[in-house]
Amino acid sequence: MKIAIVGKGGVGKTTIAGTLARLFARDGYNVLAVDADPNLNLHMSLGIDESIASKIVPISENAELIRSRTGSSFGAILRMNPKVDDIVDKFGIVGPDGVKLIVMGTVRSGNSGCLCPENAFLRALMSHLVMGTKDLVIMDMVAGLEHLARGTARGVNCMLCVVEPGAKSIITARRILKLSRDIGVKDFLAIGNKVRGEEQARLISSKMKGFGIPIVGYIPYDEAVIKAEVVGEALLDFDPNCKAVKAINDLKNKLKEMYLP
Ligand SMILES: Nc1ncnc2c1ncn2[C@@H]1O[C@H](COP(=O)(O)OP(=O)(O)OP(=O)(O)O)[C@@H](O)[C@H]1O
Ligand SMILES: [Mg+2]
Repeated sequence: MKIAIVGKGGVGKTTIAGTLARLFARDGYNVLAVDADPNLNLHMSLGIDESIASKIVPISENAELIRSRTGSSFGAILRMNPKVDDIVDKFGIVGPDGVKLIVMGTVRSGNSGCLCPENAFLRALMSHLVMGTKDLVIMDMVAGLEHLARGTARGVNCMLCVVEPGAKSIITARRILKLSRDIGVKDFLAIGNKVRGEEQARLISSKMKGFGIPIVGYIPYDEAVIKAEVVGEALLDFDPNCKAVKAINDLKNKLKEMYLP
């Protein structure tokens, strides 16, 4: 099962991805968290120390690895099916609750047809992550839409689009929905985040209904999320009983019911 968390900048993708990953891991799933955002901050939401995280070499920047697997650093004689099944074990780091983290890094070109080795490698990696019933990949995506074009979201079963009260993230959700259909994502679901009260939840609900996007849960606005960020701690370590964690736990249970019986 591969879940990609998408949405406009700043809506809460990383907070939700990191917390969700650890809650699934606590339920006995083998969770691979993929930081596909060049800003690289998923480690914090996972509770992995900065001193460890700063040593991670993003996969797309591992020139030697890519050269050795794709046959070229310039894409001239690119092998289309680089061998990648050992990459997670070699380059992933293990964080709290046993969640594994890999970091994708930046891709030079956003063109959908780009054959540069980095792109071919990332695409191969995403489509080769073979899943057993207890295996779960959770990808924290970049705010823009280019990851959809460059294909790193290929093979994703379910896209969770985070929206917050307000028109901007809601419009973005509709745009991402269109692109997700182009790359064949089966399920596109919305999560309302930073929701203050029933009225805001209703607003999100009616907009999503209009776009034909089912809502899988709401996460309330919670000061604990901000405070955790200020001290640089994972939300789950900072305040495991806060409202936001409870709502993310409900979200996890709902996703389990839907996809992981
Ligand atoms: N439920 C919430 N209640 C209050 N604040 C929240 C909530 N969720 C996220 N935030 C705050 O919103 C900001 C953005 O969160 P986060 O980094 O998780 O979003 P993002 O979508 O990953 O952002 P980016 O697009 O920059 O990667 C942070 O300051 C975070 O503390
Ligand atoms: Mg983020």
